[in-house]
Amino acid sequence: MDPSQVKIPPMKDLTVDNITENVIRMNSLCEDERMKYVLERLILHLHDFARETRLSSKEWMTGLQFLTEVGKICSDVRQEFILLSDILGLSILVDSIDHPKPPNSTEGTVLGPFHTHEAQEMSPGDPISHDPKGQPLLVVCTLKDTQGRPIENAKIDIWETDSTGHYDVQYADREGPDGRCVMRSDKDGVFWFKAITPVPYPIPHDGPVGKLLKVLRRHPFRPSHMHFMFQKEGFDHLITALYLRNDPYETSDAVFGVKDSLVVDQGKAGPEYAEKYNVSEDHALLTYDFVLVSDAETSALRERNSKVALDNLGRKVKIVNGLPVPDLD
Ligand SMILES: [Fe+2]
Repeated sequence: MDPSQVKIPPMKDLTVDNITENVIRMNSLCEDERMKYVLERLILHLHDFARETRLSSKEWMTGLQFLTEVGKICSDVRQEFILLSDILGLSILVDSIDHPKPPNSTEGTVLGPFHTHEAQEMSPGDPISHDPKGQPLLVVCTLKDTQGRPIENAKIDIWETDSTGHYDVQYADREGPDGRCVMRSDKDGVFWFKAITPVPYPIPHDGPVGKLLKVLRRHPFRPSHMHFMFQKEGFDHLITALYLRNDPYETSDAVFGVKDSLVVDQGKAGPEYAEKYNVSEDHALLTYDFVLVSDAETSALRERNSKVALDNLGRKVKIVNGLPVPDLD
């Protein structure tokens, strides 16, 4: 690129007070309006962070070394950046912004670092866990839209730990996927399977994120939960989980994922479920009615929330493709 053609003012001798506006100006030729806006806000908050904390060079280098360590420990089966985002509360924040939910629908929660794309598709009633030490659990669920109509043939990913609190991918010698499956809802929106009662577990804390938690005097535990992910054309992708009530970590989840509407009571199958689903009466039982939100409902809600939030900040923006960009008209 010929520097004489660049339509930005000459800049040098920048100071603590004017560096920000000039970096933003330097980025202003970006043709992607959304990216330009995101970078503008990122630079502004990053620079303000340094100015407000009077960040030292040593601290800045410590931060860079920390992020380097986070990157180094990542692999196909370990995602330390997701973990970092989770423990900073960013994952749940982004999910709440991007997947707003009307009051009569199922709330979302963190994806976490243990979802994989290798789970086998299973049939109704199949066991998704083969851990003989786990407490047998019957799970019976329905899937409906916000009008109460059943949603048929949704793709549902389900994953949970074994009875020791480890996901299959945490075992170097595993033979294949376990504690996870893909399932489809039937014409009545029903899907059901056999699993084991979830247990609390610590997020991986032998890496840089674990060290950070220790410095912050935070525990690494997540309360007992089972993950669910729903995909169906025409509906907003839902990533959620069910949490068992009265778990010792219910109110101090290391990744901030618990929502009251997702906390469930685990019961016993009893004679009715035992007969219908061919399990023993003392089988543990978990039931839940999930509600998906249509793409149209989600877009409208997301747009409305964006307008309110940015109005409150006094920003003049317009919504393009569902996301805000500066309104320069
Ligand atoms: Fe989990």
